[in-house]
Amino acid sequence: MKTIGIIGGGQLGRMLAMAAARLNFRTVILEPQPDCPAAQAANAQIVSAYDDSRGLDELARTADLITYEFENVPVAAAERLAASRPVFPPPKALEVAQDRLVEKRFINGCGIATAGFHAVDSQADLEAALADFDGSGVLKTRRLGYDGKGQRVFRSGKDDPSGAFAALGGVPLILESFVAFEREISIIAARSPDGATACFDPAENVHRNGILHTSTVPASVPASTAEAARKAAAAILEALGYVGVIGVEFFVLADGSVVANEIAPRVHNSGHWTEAACVVSQFEQHIRAIAGLPLGDASRHSDCVMQNLIGDEIAELPALLGEPNVLVHLYGKAEARAGRKMGHFTRLS
Ligand SMILES: Nc1ncnc2c1ncn2[C@@H]1O[C@H](COP(=O)(O)OP(=O)(O)O)[C@@H](O)[C@H]1O
Ligand SMILES: [Mg+2]
Repeated sequence: MKTIGIIGGGQLGRMLAMAAARLNFRTVILEPQPDCPAAQAANAQIVSAYDDSRGLDELARTADLITYEFENVPVAAAERLAASRPVFPPPKALEVAQDRLVEKRFINGCGIATAGFHAVDSQADLEAALADFDGSGVLKTRRLGYDGKGQRVFRSGKDDPSGAFAALGGVPLILESFVAFEREISIIAARSPDGATACFDPAENVHRNGILHTSTVPASVPASTAEAARKAAAAILEALGYVGVIGVEFFVLADGSVVANEIAPRVHNSGHWTEAACVVSQFEQHIRAIAGLPLGDASRHSDCVMQNLIGDEIAELPALLGEPNVLVHLYGKAEARAGRKMGHFTRLS
């Protein structure tokens, strides 16, 4: 039996481990926090920092191939592992996804539209960039942002940028032009080592307080919009020589065109619905892709809505368990802190 090493111990790693077990793979998790959500469902955990060479070398000894469940795995760690084991997705995908400026340039280089953007390395840069976008835009840290953290929105004539560079930590930033989107969609796609691809239907995503609230499938977009998003995702997979599952977020404009927002080189929250509405979930698809097995059929047998259970929303559990056509998935987190993803459910319709 082969062993898959997974860097990162959160819920995505947990769900990957469960999918891997069904296909007769063992899993070992590398994660500093003991008894993490992923380790609870895996065969073993190496308790180690992501950049600790002893931990990484132990992972390389234990695992036949290695993947990851979050995009902030140090690139040097992925490259160290790649010297002795297959690492999928390729470390290049980490480099691109870790820095919003590199990411936007890469996406544009694939011929895909993004918001306009400027690098912001000082308060003066910020003011010049805002002037170029008529005073509006979304300021973001280039690195380490997630769930809307490390961001600030400026509306023309309403928000004063004074002190904003320092307030976001004095770190390298990017100002994006404000996209007046009609809706947000995402594509979850997979590519195998032989270049075969498969793409789930786009989900329509609604965020609350910067955190994904619901993903609804089908998305209410015309077929031409869905096709444009699929094509963009395929171009990104190709350009990266990608292996595994990727999530690509898009804004949909009033004319139905799509603007890419960001990529996640991993399974994605907006793809959790696939475990309930497709025969092969995004988690199994990822395991199949990295293990060189045939990709699963990505078609959908049901319409559905996936909803995250954030913080004390976990109290809805008894009612959800009593409902027909609802699949509940919990993450094994002991404490229901505010803003913490505790689980999700998918309601088939
Ligand atoms: N340029 C933009 N114009 C309009 N809304 C944006 C823009 N960038 C981000 N947003 C909004 O903020 C949300 C979070 O931003 P995103 O770049 O996806 O960061 P995160 O990594 O936190 O998910 C997006 O899903 C979208 O709703
Ligand atoms: Mg996002």
